[in-house]
Amino acid sequence: MQYDPSINIIDLILRKRDGGALTEFEIATLVYGYTVGHIPDYQVSAFLMAAFLKGMSDEEMVALTDAMLNSGRVLDLSDIPGRKVDKHSTGGVGDKVSIPLAPIVAACGVPVPMISGRGLGHTGGTLDKLESIPGFSVDMDIAGYRKQLADIGLVMIGQTDDIAPADRKMYALRDVTGTVEFVPFIAASILSKKLAEGIDALVLDVKHGSGAFMQRESDARFLAETLVRVSEKFGKPTVALLTDMDQPLGCYAGNWPEIEESLEVLQGEGPADLVEVTMALAAEMLLSGGRTDNLDEARALAIDAVTSGRAMDRFEQMVSHQGGSVSSLRHPAVRKEGVQELLIHAPSDAADYVARIDARLVGRAMVELGAGRRKKEDPVDPLAGVRLLKRQGERVAAGAPIARLEASTADRFDTSVSLILEAFSFSPEATEPGSRLTDRYANGLWMNP
Ligand code: URA
Repeated sequence: MQYDPSINIIDLILRKRDGGALTEFEIATLVYGYTVGHIPDYQVSAFLMAAFLKGMSDEEMVALTDAMLNSGRVLDLSDIPGRKVDKHSTGGVGDKVSIPLAPIVAACGVPVPMISGRGLGHTGGTLDKLESIPGFSVDMDIAGYRKQLADIGLVMIGQTDDIAPADRKMYALRDVTGTVEFVPFIAASILSKKLAEGIDALVLDVKHGSGAFMQRESDARFLAETLVRVSEKFGKPTVALLTDMDQPLGCYAGNWPEIEESLEVLQGEGPADLVEVTMALAAEMLLSGGRTDNLDEARALAIDAVTSGRAMDRFEQMVSHQGGSVSSLRHPAVRKEGVQELLIHAPSDAADYVARIDARLVGRAMVELGAGRRKKEDPVDPLAGVRLLKRQGERVAAGAPIARLEASTADRFDTSVSLILEAFSFSPEATEPGSRLTDRYANGLWMNP
């Protein structure tokens, strides 16, 4: 990485503070100097806040992404046949899409190298969900990652220490300096990790609504456009779907419950909204992977991978390669033995239909229950979660069960119950749930999917 230790960091901070721009080389110096410990936290904090307040140009954003990407190892998977494609979601409540999606796409012949994160706050993380499968390991060295991708076309692991180390350090600093919610930093953070995986193309699921990182649709649109533009500057064709995360995706939230719901999708069942988002993203990945040039045909290929059982086989193969218990997938009731349950009932004055279930409140209930984390070092209860028994538009009688909480122990139910009750709103009229797919951004154009 380019680095000039003689550059005066104070000059860079002053220039940014006064609205000026930094060069690619200066940004690389700042990022690399910070990663190796030559530049202290307080100077980078000042830079982060100055950039947050004054903004960054596209050139600066690309330079920041490049410096963060090259702060660690950038994988080259070109010796593995096929166009490697990954999906990144900005995260939400009940968003287990990666789990059925990756094996569906791999079963159609497009290799999926997926490096994911853990849950934090109200949003869940793919790694925590996978780890709720007994024995499943998300820790793998790069040699193992390459071998599994070459052997079965599918690997799902956690970030290794040598992938984008600058992001880990800078994200921790952003978290304590009020500089997280800034699109150039978010874009550089997400893309530095994804571009290091060795992918040829990327599909993004940018969510908006109460359970999403970006609550306003306009902010999600801006983030999607920025992510696509920056990713393509690195030569990676990128498509973004904008999806609605105002209400939890699917009926289950929590780690093991989300594995169970993912299995339903792989069996050709599962709730319509979850299937809709999974299949839309699968079709995009198959298109990006060069499997076909037509979205309808791509969707048909994805459906065939499910109905033929090939997607489920591929998932079981991956679970087995990564040390997980395939038997727990086939006998989920055994996995749940001893789990504590509590039914939540509609209030006595509830009107006839569920009007909305606020995703953020459900996510907070998951943290209270131990299915999610407040701080990144918190442990999670793999069995904890909620099963929504009634969803938007469904008829409900006063006092009828609307949700079921589950956890390894019953001692954390109380706060979760009130949050779930608060999440539900009722109405005398039925509201039909709309499509979760809001828009699609590709080749510089928004086009309804
Ligand atoms: N996700 C990331 O990986 N980084 C951010 O900055 C925000 C969301």
